Amino acid sequence: MTHVLVTGGAGFIGTHVVTALLGASHHVTILDSGHPGAHRTPLPDHLAGAPLNRADLTDRTAVAGALSGVDVVIHQAAMVGLGVDLDDLPEYVRCNDLGTAVLLAEMARAGVGRLVLAGSMVVYGEGAYACPEHGPVRPAARTVADLAAGRFEPACPICGAAVRPGLVGEDAALDPRSVYAATKVAQEHLTAAWARQTGATVVALRYHNVYGPGMPRDTPYSGVAAIFRSALEAGRAPRVFEDGGQRRDFVHVRDVAAANLAALVATGTRTGWRAYNIASGRPATVGEMAAELARAAGGPSPVVTGEFRLGDVRHVVASPRRAETELGFKAAVGLADGVTEFASAPLRG
Ligand code: UD1
Repeated sequence: MTHVLVTGGAGFIGTHVVTALLGASHHVTILDSGHPGAHRTPLPDHLAGAPLNRADLTDRTAVAGALSGVDVVIHQAAMVGLGVDLDDLPEYVRCNDLGTAVLLAEMARAGVGRLVLAGSMVVYGEGAYACPEHGPVRPAARTVADLAAGRFEPACPICGAAVRPGLVGEDAALDPRSVYAATKVAQEHLTAAWARQTGATVVALRYHNVYGPGMPRDTPYSGVAAIFRSALEAGRAPRVFEDGGQRRDFVHVRDVAAANLAALVATGTRTGWRAYNIASGRPATVGEMAAELARAAGGPSPVVTGEFRLGDVRHVVASPRRAETELGFKAAVGLADGVTEFASAPLRG
């Protein structure tokens, strides 16, 4: 039995991780601040039988106390999403980067040397692309003029030709395109530096688009699946931005929890820092996701609006092969089954 501290253990993904850990007979402690961006009601003292410390990660004393007797930390606590506006910037950095820095310092002091980091595919920026003429290329961020004219597909940065999207692997260059993405890159760099300096082990899981029961309702911080699901619950049609052809890998939250269990095992056998895509391996367009969800919910059909958001990328589709070969993790929930369940599952908040 391993004693695991789960930061953000009262959140959407954290709750599923805690349930999976308890199901595998681990000893679990939760540290969660109950951040108002993610929680609309006060947190309880216990969750699924695990003690819950209500404290912010930047509170050194509370973090030190929560680490007592812990073997491994699963670090889920973070502020996610695109946010409201740049007024959010300091809070993203405080929660995601200062919080991680305090956690790492206290782990080093307590001699806890095994960490699973909840990372994100947002670190890649745009996914992988190839130009017919120039081979693998990294398209620049799409301009407002292009997006407003309905030119949603990124172009070759050398010749401007249409590029073909491919699978993004873990060794792709990091290219964060939003404040949130920049804070997730910083988490990776901080944990890598910590691992090098202390000889500790970090398994960084780059989640793709997680969905499933307990997802937060529609907020400026929610992913698209929660936004569509909330609209359908209110009897409104999901609003699909751009032309709906943007591709993502929607991975079910129970698969993500299983990936965390596999990563926990790996922190006991590996050394150093290593990143893994956590994806279903079966990508879909956002338009397909909306249609599937509307069908499963028996709600109004999606509307493709042509709207766009700055900071959004066009296609991010991953290769899940490294997680499969090195962690033994393979997603088990198919999109049709997962979406059917999600259509009637409770949301949080
Ligand atoms: C998302 C999350 C990120 C998370 C990552 C991996 C945001 C901004 N990003 O990235 O936190 O780490 O997945 O799990 O939350 N869209 C619509 N209609 C809407 C809202 C969005 O069509 O009402 C479109 C967007 O334009 C975009 C796509 O859906 O093309 C995905 O949006 P979203 O889930 O917000 O962001 P990701 O970039 O996929």
